[in-house]
Amino acid sequence: MTAAIIDRILEAEYFTQPAPVPPSLRTIRVGLAGCGVVGGSLVRLLDDCADTIASRHGVRIELSRILVRDVKRDRGLAISPTLFTNNWASFVDEEVDVVVEAIGGKDTAGTIAREALRRGRKFVTANKELIAADGSELAALARESDGSLDFGASVGGSAPVISLLRDLLGTTSPRSVRGILNGTSNYILTRIERGDSFAEALAEAQRKGFAELDPSRDLDGRDSAAKLAIIAWISFGISPSAFRIPRIGLNASIDLIVRDATRLGGRVRFLAECGSHPNHEIIASVEPVIVPSDNPFGRTELEDNRVEVDLGWAAPLAVSGPGAGGPPTATALLGDLLNSALPRNERGTSATLYSSVEDSRVHRWLLASASPLDSIGSAIQGPFVGAIKSSGGTRVIVESTRSAIIDAIQHLEQRGIEVAVARFSPGLDGATLP
Ligand code: HSE
Repeated sequence: MTAAIIDRILEAEYFTQPAPVPPSLRTIRVGLAGCGVVGGSLVRLLDDCADTIASRHGVRIELSRILVRDVKRDRGLAISPTLFTNNWASFVDEEVDVVVEAIGGKDTAGTIAREALRRGRKFVTANKELIAADGSELAALARESDGSLDFGASVGGSAPVISLLRDLLGTTSPRSVRGILNGTSNYILTRIERGDSFAEALAEAQRKGFAELDPSRDLDGRDSAAKLAIIAWISFGISPSAFRIPRIGLNASIDLIVRDATRLGGRVRFLAECGSHPNHEIIASVEPVIVPSDNPFGRTELEDNRVEVDLGWAAPLAVSGPGAGGPPTATALLGDLLNSALPRNERGTSATLYSSVEDSRVHRWLLASASPLDSIGSAIQGPFVGAIKSSGGTRVIVESTRSAIIDAIQHLEQRGIEVAVARFSPGLDGATLP
């Protein structure tokens, strides 16, 4: 993109400000268990998005209590230190509407889940290990106590895998679900493809907050298997703790296979798969797979996750996006938090946040016509980047606003001249005619 175009985009008054916050806001009180990478990101997100949440949903989210191991540690967060407690018993007694769990592991997290659900609270978690081990029991507790259990953030990070499956399965069952479910291992494989060593890539994944506290869970496939068990539970109704998933993990020698795969036109991806077979039997696996490099899994890079749901249609349904790290996981948690606390008809209906305006930016367009250049050139505003006249007609590249292009098309149509138009997407907008 040329500097001139960038300047014009920056000058354009394209984005508008959020609407004012409505005066009467309902308060949703939240207890947050854990304030590490994900919990800390959620605290920042709540602060950053407070006005948007108020305008869009008519609610204010109030952090009532935060359970941490070390109450004295400086987490660099703009919240009162008095919110922190290290006493889980007083934490679960706190009168809140929603408990969000971002501790990880099964022990303390499991205790908090049970205590919260017994008290009829809404419980929201990103904890795949807990849900894979005790999801059926916790779901039953939620049903008995009138609480609720949401775990959309436990699989796929920001990629909405669980909501896709839940929404879908009202009508049909998948033949299979397969995906890259672990951001850390995908990050490592991609970095090895780009020339890093296994150890360097793992250290970077840890530094970026993608890896588990014990990264062997990422590498040996336990993390992917826990997520796959949750997927199979939602998809096939098989209790996650009863699901058998054979695993083949990654180790430092995987760089040899990555190099061989590259020579063969492939890429190594750590795939988790489960599928139905006759007689209601499900088979599953978590293992490195060599896929074609131009296949969607091959093109899934760094910490991204991708999940494909095969329904026997022409193509699978797919979701993808950053699958690990604080902000993506916190965003998924916040979505679950709002979904659990707000009745469906109150979500996103409070105010109009944005107004619709015309795009005043200049883009680069390719116009093609069977008519001669002279007959179409006069209709077009904006600088010509290039034009070709040939016996087959005319091709023109022009920099212009969309409205000017639409005017030109209409003007030419009125004169009986047909012109085909396409905009160059970012990345190709430096294109010129040969
Ligand atoms: N360690 C996990 C991963 C975090 O890398 O995918 C997100 O669940």
